[in-house]
Amino acid sequence: MNHQRRLLLLGSAGAVVTASIGTSALAAQGKAGADVDVHIELHALPDQVSIRSGKPTQVWRYRSKLLRGEPHTLEASAGGYLGPIIRVRRGQRIRIDLINGLPESTIIHWHGLHVPEEMDGHPRFAIAPGARYVYEFKVDNRAGSYWFHPHPHGRTGKQVYAGLAGLFLVSDDEEAALNLPSGAQDLPLVIQDRNFDADNQFVYLGGGKDAPSQRRGMMGGGMMSGGMMGGGGMGSMMAGMMGVLGDQVLVNGSIPRQREVERRAHRLRLLNASNTRTLKLAWSDQTPLTVIGSDGGLLAAPLQRDYVMLAPAERVELWVNFSRWAGAAEPTLRSLAFEGGIAMGSMMGGGGSLSDGAAFDVLRFKVSDGKGRDESPPARLSTIAKAEPLMAVNYAHPKVFELTMGMMVWGINGESFDMLGASELETVKLGTNEIWEFRNEGRGSMMGMVMPHSMHVHGLQFRVLTRSVSRKFSDEYDSVKAGFVDDGWKDTVLVMPGERVRVLLRFADFAGLFLYHCHMLEHEDTGLMRNYRVEA
Ligand code: C2O
Ligand code: CU
Repeated sequence: MNHQRRLLLLGSAGAVVTASIGTSALAAQGKAGADVDVHIELHALPDQVSIRSGKPTQVWRYRSKLLRGEPHTLEASAGGYLGPIIRVRRGQRIRIDLINGLPESTIIHWHGLHVPEEMDGHPRFAIAPGARYVYEFKVDNRAGSYWFHPHPHGRTGKQVYAGLAGLFLVSDDEEAALNLPSGAQDLPLVIQDRNFDADNQFVYLGGGKDAPSQRRGMMGGGMMSGGMMGGGGMGSMMAGMMGVLGDQVLVNGSIPRQREVERRAHRLRLLNASNTRTLKLAWSDQTPLTVIGSDGGLLAAPLQRDYVMLAPAERVELWVNFSRWAGAAEPTLRSLAFEGGIAMGSMMGGGGSLSDGAAFDVLRFKVSDGKGRDESPPARLSTIAKAEPLMAVNYAHPKVFELTMGMMVWGINGESFDMLGASELETVKLGTNEIWEFRNEGRGSMMGMVMPHSMHVHGLQFRVLTRSVSRKFSDEYDSVKAGFVDDGWKDTVLVMPGERVRVLLRFADFAGLFLYHCHMLEHEDTGLMRNYRVEA
């Protein structure tokens, strides 16, 4: 495979900095290359949107422009602040220009996509205000629901919270042959939580004055007010580390209003784009969920779950025939209560109204009148080879990555983020498979505190091999364990307190420096992120 790599940076002063790796010529500056199928401009910029009644909310968002491609390639987010939905086909050549209209540096990561290192949005590629970053890559992933979001070091949580995120949906021939529900019956649902102040502004942790709606001293999660850590300083730092939980659930960047649906089959693409909150999703009347896809696309066959755990950055695709609900029934997607969530709410005695693991409604549906359609999901969805641990070069000795906590900083095996560094353990050979074990046993943590983590590996899709939990946590674990969707291809995996999760990774096609980290963004920003290096 000859992957052409292009990198074009426009400095804020207009100076053009280029780095060209491989044999390709540099794409003409600012013009769509004749050799791409899709060319999009994404402007990251401050804006305001009307989310609650009254004052508009200051946000940061992606505004998009389609310079080349079929019109359906871009679907503007309806009403909310989210970026556009980008729809592409496997095999297409994509060019996307990120133009930084923010008052601070940023970069975009294509979450779940298999792309060369310069295209992956590592924080070392962050661009200054006014600068442009040109992405150009071939879509090499299976059909599935991927997404994109900022990734500057230390500020990913803040920038995503301010509104920067969007979906990147890939289709392919295998998927098309299934005739899954499409058009108005294909519903992307991006779930997030936010805190608003009395002026309708987002409330995030303390920080720069230029960020929208940052209120020094206001605690993230609303969970600390009145708690022992309340009042900024230490409290702010603690909350900054533990995570940010919002009282208000948003769907597709808006307050969820009841959604009208036809009495027929639908495909629901769920993304948990919350900064820290984990969801336990279920139908409120206990109808089982029919799961057809996860992070890396369709499963081999539909499976039934009473509920599904969805950690930050994970996706799950549901198939649902609304004709199963009779008359005036209003099926509601809920997040159920569970244990073992971020322990802070209770630990700090905070007054937050919606702690991690608390139950709440996500979205209520209203099913149209009329006769239902008798539709059921395809019995077979895709071919997924059996995960074969014996293929791993370290089959006998899985690498262990312990999620650790030190003095006010997270780490992996005791090490925090190092922009250009990767240890020997974190170095792998191009073209090989390895088994990694993520261990979440609270090593180094104060007061034995252990919280869930959502482990994401850049640049590839992996397979989940095994999970085990220490007996100490088995009671809490009982409230979540039936909800993992470990089948199919994954790029993010929930690792609950006390758990050891083994995954099988293949390092194919691209050498270079990539990230792996917790996708609870405040954990990522405060050290729970490391590089791994793929050596040719
Ligand atoms: Cu979606 Cu490194 O993240
Ligand atoms: Cu974490």
